[in-house]
Amino acid sequence: MQEDLERVLFDETAILRRIEELAAVITAEYQGRELTVIAVLNGSLIFAADLLRRIPLPLKLDCLSVASYHGGTITAGEVVFKQITPPDVAGRHILILDDILDSGVTLAAIRDKLEMERPLSVKICVLLRKLKARICPVEADHVGFNIGDEFVVAYGLDYMERYRNLPCIGVLRKEKILPPQQA
Ligand code: IMP
Ligand code: MG
Repeated sequence: MQEDLERVLFDETAILRRIEELAAVITAEYQGRELTVIAVLNGSLIFAADLLRRIPLPLKLDCLSVASYHGGTITAGEVVFKQITPPDVAGRHILILDDILDSGVTLAAIRDKLEMERPLSVKICVLLRKLKARICPVEADHVGFNIGDEFVVAYGLDYMERYRNLPCIGVLRKEKILPPQQA
């Protein structure tokens, strides 16, 4: 799988080092508060597993599953929720975990939906943030790494459901990306 990468951006050691730092900041921020973490599946699965095990707080974990990409590399614009809003949002501090902030369509839709459930606060933590203009106005409160506007895979991120289990994050070779009508 790794030979499908044009170049590696972050190896496993660099990712885990940065996750330790994020975990320390988040632990300090939510000390003594009622925290619910909402992990956006499938992309944040590996990130959430590594991050949450480094946050020694009595948090609750829920997962949301949404689809917005439908297999390609460009966002389709519509966000489909695959289940209803999770419990334990009202009266709690919510931290949404996602793999990447790209167009902002997905995270804006999730944030807006959760805010209707009357949480005390909603913040967003992403492993990766693409430095580009967003379609929807949304910002991340905690960011692992900023990256350029390139299609990346691994460590939870996929291309057509592949590469999620590759440990180092990298840019997918252009010739591996199918034209939109075949994707
Ligand atoms: P959005 O464009 O910010 O709504 O991002 C939607 C979703 O697209 C993210 O949660 C990722 O699952 C996926 N995505 C965006 N950019 C990339 C990428 O570079 N590689 C893999 N998945 C991506
Ligand atoms: Mg995806």
